[in-house]
Amino acid sequence: MSESPVIIRVRDNGPYVVEGPIQVVDAEGKAFPLPAGKPAIALCRCGHSKNKPFCDGSHRTVAFQASERAPAG
Ligand code: FES
Repeated sequence: MSESPVIIRVRDNGPYVVEGPIQVVDAEGKAFPLPAGKPAIALCRCGHSKNKPFCDGSHRTVAFQASERAPAG
């Protein structure tokens, strides 16, 4: 039986949304508690969240802009 792959969605002007069986650990390897029952978590990439490493919506108030696209092919 194979596990579902982890998918990281790069949201336009927003966080990385991570779906799949993951753990988020700090520099010492200690796990951050993750919300139970949620299919995905959002990781801050704008640097302004007050709840790092998670997104708290601050990217909207700072007008973070990023809309990268994967290369074709
Ligand atoms: S990406 Fe949402 S607070 Fe940084």
